[in-house]
Order: sequence, then C-alpha cells, then structure tokens
Amino acid sequence: MPVTILIGAQWGDEGKGRYVDWLAASADIVARYAGGDNAGHTVAIEEDVYKLHLIPSGVFHDDVVSIMGNGMVVNPVNLVKEIKGLQAMGIEITPERLLISSRAHIITPAHIELDKAKELARGTKAIGTTLRGIGPAYLDKTGRAGIRTGDMLLDLETFAERLYEAIERTNETLVKQGMEKLNPQEAALEYLDAATFLKPFIVDTSIYLYKALKDGKKVVCEGAQGTLLDIDHGSYPYVTSSSPTAGGALTGLGVGPLDVEHVLGVAKSFSTRVGGGPMPTELEGDIADQLRGTGENFWDEFGTTTGRPRRCGWLDVVMLRYAVSVNGFSEMMLTKMDILSGIDELKLAVAYEVDGEQMEFPPVTNEQLERATAVYETLDGWQEDISGCRNFDELPAAAQAYVNRIAELCDVPINTISVGPERDQLVLRS
Ligand code: IMP
Repeated sequence: MPVTILIGAQWGDEGKGRYVDWLAASADIVARYAGGDNAGHTVAIEEDVYKLHLIPSGVFHDDVVSIMGNGMVVNPVNLVKEIKGLQAMGIEITPERLLISSRAHIITPAHIELDKAKELARGTKAIGTTLRGIGPAYLDKTGRAGIRTGDMLLDLETFAERLYEAIERTNETLVKQGMEKLNPQEAALEYLDAATFLKPFIVDTSIYLYKALKDGKKVVCEGAQGTLLDIDHGSYPYVTSSSPTAGGALTGLGVGPLDVEHVLGVAKSFSTRVGGGPMPTELEGDIADQLRGTGENFWDEFGTTTGRPRRCGWLDVVMLRYAVSVNGFSEMMLTKMDILSGIDELKLAVAYEVDGEQMEFPPVTNEQLERATAVYETLDGWQEDISGCRNFDELPAAAQAYVNRIAELCDVPINTISVGPERDQLVLRS
C-alpha cells in the first residue's frame, strides 16, 4: 500500500509544502489532487525560497515525478510562468518530470472576471476568494460546461474554438452581473501559446499512476487548502470549491482506497484563516500580532498567493478533532511551534459552547458557529528558542506537554514538529 495522503487539517496555510518536500525524499511520485493557483506552497532550501502555486512540492528532488491530477483546475498561462520561473532558478522541468492530467479543468480569463464579479455582488458576505477563477471553473466542471487540459492536445484551431465558446458562455453571465464582456480572441491569445508549450506535459495521469503503483512505486498525494475549506466538510459557503480532504485525493487522482497506507494531517500550532467565515478562536492584539509576524519574513502570516494578512488565533482542537474524523488521520504533524516561544500561557479550545450546550465537534450552520464561544484549557508556555531542537526530548517540558495534550485531545499520534522554515528544522520523536 504505497500511497501516502497529506492533508491540511485547518483552513489552509498549515505549512504542507515543507512536509511534502520532506516526504518526497523517499517517494517516487508527488501528485497534487485538488485546487489550482489559489494555493501557495513554500519550500525553503538553504538561502532559496520557492513559492509554488500549481506545481507539486516534490519538484526539488531530481528522482521524483510530479503529477498534476484531474481534480485540479489549471490556469495554463500561470502554469507556464511557474514552469519558466522554476527553470530560470535551475530546477529541471521536463515532460518526463512533470505530468499534467488530460482531465483537469482549465480556468479561462472569463472565470477570473466572474470570480471578481461574484465577490463584488456578495458585498459584506464576500467569501474573500483568491480571485483566481477557482469557483467559476469548478462550477463549469460540475455543470458539464468546462473545457479540459486534454483539449489542448487537439489541433490549435479546435482548441481555440472551444476556448472562445467557453468565454462566450461565461460572457452571458458576466453581463447579467453588470460586468463588461471579454473579447474571446483577445482574452485567449496567451492561452494559445500556453497550449502549445504545455502539450508535451499532458497525459492520462490516472493510467500512469495505476502502472506506477503496480510497479511498487511510492506516491505522496499533496493536498492544497485545508479540511475546513472543503466544499462538503468546511464551513460552507466560506470554503473553496474543491475537496481537499482524503476522499478528494482518490477522486482527484483516480486511485483506489486500497492503495492508501498513511493519511497524514498537517496542523499549524495555532490557528490562521484568510478570507471570510467564522473563526471561534480568533484573537486581536499583541498575541495575534506575535503569531502573525510583521510580514518581513516569508514565513509570517500573510497570504502566499494574495499577500493578505491572515487572521490568527489559539489552536482550535474542536476543528482539529473534526479534521481527524473527516480524514481518518493515521498521524498528525505540527508546524511553526517556534513561533509560540515567549508566550506566557497558551490556550487550546477544547470545546465550544453554543446556546448553553457544550460541543466537542463544530456545529453545522454558520449561524451557530458564529454564536459559538470557545471553551479553553490553559497550558504553560515556554520562553526558550526551540528552533535548534531536533529531538522531542530536547524540547522544553512545557512544549512537550503542549504537543502531547493536542495528540491526546485528538486521539492521534504526533511525532513530527517543525520549528523553523529550513528543511532540517524538524523535531522528531525517537
Ligand atoms: P477560492 O479558493 O479562491 O475560491 O477561495 C475560497 C476561500 O478559500 C477563501 O476564503 C480563500 O481565502 C480560501 N483559500 C483558498 N485557497 C487557499 C489557500 O491555499 N490557503 C488559505 N486559504 C485559501
């Protein structure tokens, strides 16, 4: 059972990229299964910092094949920019090393305009999307009106026709929203160059994976966004339009459940969220500022894709417990424990109180969630700089207790903790 699925356990931005890069060292294939360039995965290797939006985070390992799965929505122009950017930094990206599913859906320029129009129309109820056209592209997919990456394998004229038709269709909706129409020929110009460039990378990745698994290859499935942004399991409608959870990995790549060996949840040691929607442990003031950082460092809590400051708060164990239940984590890995150093007391939200009732799992409606107050357990903090620790026993006792209590409350082992952005800044339990 050679498949490992790695999933964000919160609202995205958990630091999944660094763990995918770490797991990739002993994998043959790293495959992304959901989302598009709304994601921002950061990998720090010595003095270089790479920000990936579409390409899987295993790309820095020479022997690893990267797959972009059918569950993704792809902006071809941005993908070409990302490939060329990596190539300019000396990373080899060839059709042997990067495979794009022919069944992924294409984000058109009209989807991006529509994303903006819909957000405007939502007014105070805006979702706070990344404005990358993600929602409208998935809407066309499920409405059976989308165009797919496989269409780029057709002759250029036929692909262009399909693209123009798709833009025209979305134009009708744009006009209804009071927006200007796009000129399909102008809007699609860069797409045609991108199609020519990307053609050699496009294959049936599910068949490739089937054969690779038969040959005993090891596959890491890289989740984007996080459990609480899942279209089914997140705090709807303040969610993304894909399935970042464990089930999404199977449909988003076309692999069967019997191949899965590990389901790893990545959780930040505190909570962050970007965009709208309820967040019961949100903080304002000094502690929120410490958690967020100033924005000077790439690991500070400002969106990798949009640059927006993230909302910060205490670790929400109610949400984590829910992520465990939805994904069936075999293990959880923590990130950014070093950021908690110097806070006198740390709080864990162990339950919610909603209308006089205590709840261990989040309520379903946002109305209830907005009325929820967190029930906190207070733990001692630690003052020491822990960024040099590599073994669990080297952590201060209070930091060990913090990790152990989270594992106990979630009923899942935690054996791996990151204490800094560098590849080797990992604490392992021996
Ligand atoms: P969309 O995916 O651009 O439609 O955005 C929907 C919601 O998901 C918004 O609240 C975004 O801020 C959030 N979101 C999407 N991608 C990410 C991500 O990679 N990290 C964190 N939040 C995200």
